[in-house]
Amino acid sequence: MSDKATLTYEGKTYELPVVEGTENEKGIDISKLRALSGLITLDPGFKNTGSTRSAITYLDGENGILRYRGYSIEELAENASFLEVSYLIIYGELPNKSQYELFCKEITEHTLVHEEIKNILDGFPSNAHPMGVLSSLISSLTAFYPESLDPNRSSEEVHLSIIRIIAKIPTLASWAFKNEIGHPVNYPDNNLEYGSNFLKMMFAIPSEVYKSDPVLADALNKLLILHADHEQNCSTATVRIVGSSHASLYSSVSAGISALWGPLHGGANQAVIEMLEAIRADGGDVQKYMDKAKDKDDPFRLMGFGHRVYKNFDPRAKIIKKAADSVLAKLGVNDPVLEIAKGLEEVALKDPYFVERKLYPNVDFYSGIIYRAMGIPTQMFTVMFALGRLPGWISQWKEMRENNEPIGRPRQIYTGANERSFVNIGDRK
Ligand code: CMC
Repeated sequence: MSDKATLTYEGKTYELPVVEGTENEKGIDISKLRALSGLITLDPGFKNTGSTRSAITYLDGENGILRYRGYSIEELAENASFLEVSYLIIYGELPNKSQYELFCKEITEHTLVHEEIKNILDGFPSNAHPMGVLSSLISSLTAFYPESLDPNRSSEEVHLSIIRIIAKIPTLASWAFKNEIGHPVNYPDNNLEYGSNFLKMMFAIPSEVYKSDPVLADALNKLLILHADHEQNCSTATVRIVGSSHASLYSSVSAGISALWGPLHGGANQAVIEMLEAIRADGGDVQKYMDKAKDKDDPFRLMGFGHRVYKNFDPRAKIIKKAADSVLAKLGVNDPVLEIAKGLEEVALKDPYFVERKLYPNVDFYSGIIYRAMGIPTQMFTVMFALGRLPGWISQWKEMRENNEPIGRPRQIYTGANERSFVNIGDRK
């Protein structure tokens, strides 16, 4: 088969190389297209554009496959810890026992944040959305570790930045929550593993002895793994493009958190629960909301449905749905919105509108139900996504810098006014 594609325009033919990935997916390399022909490509939303070659995550949307560094999401969610998966994603291989112990130890040693961060936290109004607070606090790490701004740091120094951000994000995320509810912050407990420490900082009350719950810790571990990377999605592409200007890891991740916040991306998990609650409050008429979602004059969308890449099923949603059932059963929680969610899914999966457009429940459809069962408030759902996605952002930033990728700078097709002369204000109509 030819490894070149040809493009014919205005009587001239241009040959463009075809590149192939390790899973045989093919792409036309157009990096020389403009130099050869004067043409650019136009692809709003980058629906057909590969922005990089990446060895981190493989995703086959047609067949519902997701693998981190070659390992299936199903196997990792079943068997691994979140920090093991983080190491795998960032450093390319599963850690052996001593590498894993060292990685956990390093993270544990950096869980505290500078006390002055509390001053920044105090500056936020108490109703500030925790995603905005988290993004700001992560960005503020550049002030406490100014050496992280140096784009020419050694790999050991970059490793230290990586350890710091993984170690501190649970502390900062829990503090963003405490700010919202006006409670004093909790400090990390280094005797606990990563997820349990986070849950303790979220829920411990100074006058009470906090007992960590293995059911919650296990559910959290799974959820974090399921969110850990997802190739070139909106927030990851943001992290890469911000980092491509040689901005620091902390500022790039902070930008990623902002990109994740929107309801079409990570913010969907909050939007799903708000939608399910609204349907319940409105009498539970699932069909009414299905009709709204299909009505092109109505801006309402079925949140938690549809995906840019998955056109068959989202493998993460399958795992989460199963986990939701088991977590709710183990905790003895009977959540009425779960029934609404199941009803909505059942109707949608048979509805021609959803079938034709290949719209299936995505990762966010059921994750909020587990978070609720864990006692995590709705406004914190997207923060939970950010905690999970952090290793993905880190590894994509690191890969981009190690490959010395050029600064991200798309082109455009200009559609504005042609050149015209300035008119003095008194002479304007
Ligand atoms: N409800 C109703 N219609 C929908 C939905 C939905 N949730 N999603 C897509 N459609 C329709 C859309 O109107 C369009 O119809 P038509 O062809 O008649 O114009 C068609 O399906 C294709 O949609 P699109 O917007 O062109 O697809 P996209 O790839 O640009 O958008 C999406 C993907 C995830 C933004 C979109 O499906 C959506 O808005 N879903 C709801 C938000 C959501 O759950 N987001 C979380 C995604 S998973 C977590 C993550 O990784 O971010």
